[in-house]
Amino acid sequence: MEKLKGLILSGGAGTRLRPITHTSAKQLVPVANKPVLFYGIEALVAAGVGEIGIIIAPETGAEIEAAVGDGSRFGAAITFIGQDEPKGLAHAVLTAEDYLGSDPFVMYLGDNLLRDGITELVQAFRSSEPDAMILLTSVLHPEHYGVAELDGDRIVRLIEKPVDPPSDLALVGVYMFTSKVFAAAKAIQPSPRGELEITDTIQRMVDDGLRVDSHRVKGWWKDTGQLADMLEANRLVLEEGSRRIDGELIDSTVEGRVVVEPGAVLERTTVRGPAVIGAGARITNSYIGPYTAVGEDVVIEASEVEHSILLAGCEVRDLPSRLEASLLGREVKLARSDRLPKTLRMIVGDRSEITLA
Ligand code: G1P
Repeated sequence: MEKLKGLILSGGAGTRLRPITHTSAKQLVPVANKPVLFYGIEALVAAGVGEIGIIIAPETGAEIEAAVGDGSRFGAAITFIGQDEPKGLAHAVLTAEDYLGSDPFVMYLGDNLLRDGITELVQAFRSSEPDAMILLTSVLHPEHYGVAELDGDRIVRLIEKPVDPPSDLALVGVYMFTSKVFAAAKAIQPSPRGELEITDTIQRMVDDGLRVDSHRVKGWWKDTGQLADMLEANRLVLEEGSRRIDGELIDSTVEGRVVVEPGAVLERTTVRGPAVIGAGARITNSYIGPYTAVGEDVVIEASEVEHSILLAGCEVRDLPSRLEASLLGREVKLARSDRLPKTLRMIVGDRSEITLA
């Protein structure tokens, strides 16, 4: 098989992760303090795919370009491809037709995370040379994904977000195609949500008698498009981390697999891993519990935080109860004050969610 290119789709609006995505691309939300998109780039490079096109949208493209750069830090050659309107995953593929040319390619949705990477899957594609290959895995809520109906190994039908799923096998957001995908993408009609679906495109390839293989994903897979999945991905990645203390500990206890980046200072604080504390963070008189990712330059004082993601520059002070299962955007300030009257005072962005107990 000729050279394989990579195509990462990083144009989605991230409506299910608002308000974070009002100001920032969902693909740059950090999982264990690393943007989720970077895991995808690294997985492609590890599988020997170093020539990568990244689809970007007008709203978030500049931010993604600035974060990724030219790809040299990943050992990749990266080309950014603008998609003017969010008309679906198959539309994104067509947008990249000139870039991809006649080369086969791996398409990777920029908010997806696979524990075991994609090296084995890319090898299977290279050696068996089908027209397309999809990855499948069993999920609890197949209605949220593209779903496959199989007969043995043969694909009978692929349906996008079916109300009544025929199986629990979801389409993972990594696909491998030959250039035959372009004709199929041009032949389909927009779905009820108004998008050219990749699921319908692959169905079309099956209908046209092309060979579409499926491969089961063994390790965990996460589509981080929603808060619960983002926290779960953070938990799973931290679970596999190791211990490294480069910051300063003053009268503090750090238990288990915890990374404390250089310049972070912990004072009279307990951290129970797995957790990661970003560079320059200052944590005082606090407890940081398992599955917490504290971003760069975050300040935490007299508070307890667990199973949460705090983006760079947050300030959390004197909380009356433990903060958990939370995602705080950049430079969010959360504090308790003893001033009377005892009221709640907030400046909260559009579509924020706050639960008080
Ligand atoms: C997309 C695909 C869906 C696939 C999912 C995987 O859904 O349309 O078939 O199962 O990615 O992440 P979306 O996240 O765009 O709703």
